[in-house]
Amino acid sequence: MKRRGLLDIESLPREDIESILARSKDFQPPPGQSFQRFDILRNRTIVNLFFEASTRTRTSFEIAARRLGGEVISITAAGSSVSKGESLVDTLNTLGAMRPDCIVMRHSASGAPHFLSRYLPIPFVNAGDGTHEHPTQALLDARTILDRRGSLEDLRVAIIGDIAHSRVARSNIFLLSKFGVRVVLCGPPSLLPREIGQIAPGLELTTDMEKAIRGVDVIMMLRVQLERQHEAAFPANEYFQFYGLRPEHVELAKPDVIVMHPGPINRGREISSEVADSQRSAILNQVGNGIAVRMAVLERVLAA
Ligand code: NCD
Repeated sequence: MKRRGLLDIESLPREDIESILARSKDFQPPPGQSFQRFDILRNRTIVNLFFEASTRTRTSFEIAARRLGGEVISITAAGSSVSKGESLVDTLNTLGAMRPDCIVMRHSASGAPHFLSRYLPIPFVNAGDGTHEHPTQALLDARTILDRRGSLEDLRVAIIGDIAHSRVARSNIFLLSKFGVRVVLCGPPSLLPREIGQIAPGLELTTDMEKAIRGVDVIMMLRVQLERQHEAAFPANEYFQFYGLRPEHVELAKPDVIVMHPGPINRGREISSEVADSQRSAILNQVGNGIAVRMAVLERVLAA
């Protein structure tokens, strides 16, 4: 992990996950306060390379690196030579020649950071690769659940929405399964491929939202990822009727259910404003935890 960075949750041992989650707790600020500053990454340079749209993940990695005393440079595809036709390998070779200490990368191709990390002697942190994985999102989601529940033991979690295209769903499935969490996946048939049921033992699949939610401890909603859908997977105006999370659904879950969403949320499409803004929603806690978890990840990957 130290040399190779963090590419996915699937190959990350449970003990490593536990140690990142424990360390991230040290970085959480007390309520109402800002993140503390550390010197841990002094003289270290992190390149944030984002080939896909991002608000929270990119900002979160930047803040995390700065809070640890590191230097961070953010490059987005639109402002880089990628828009001048440079290939990914050439862009990366160029950046590699500048000897950054770590590359945080988001790319629309599944496996892009895995491929590049084989050729460059620089640790990569995957900030989302296509429909494959988004490891730091699953870690921050686990941190958020732990903060409210204290343990992942004996939990039941429903992941609802565009499962087919969601790297967030996949990373969460891998992480939660390593801790024996019972996971139920729910979405319209066209966005709930049967194969996903094979990636971890004991996954339940259903197209019935009420069935998925009944008695769960955590509801994770997903955005409908239209940018990854090449043909209409469902009638757009009916989605909210069948798979939009509304207060009456939340009633079916445990009384202290946690409602989560990786963001960006589309109000009135996959989640109602009543639920998104309710006491049960942990959406902004997830954002805050993103920084603490990324501090723990960057420290682990980079600290000497
Ligand atoms: C997610 C992503 O990019 O995979 N967003 C995020 O990182 N917070 C989910 C999404 O875009 O729907």
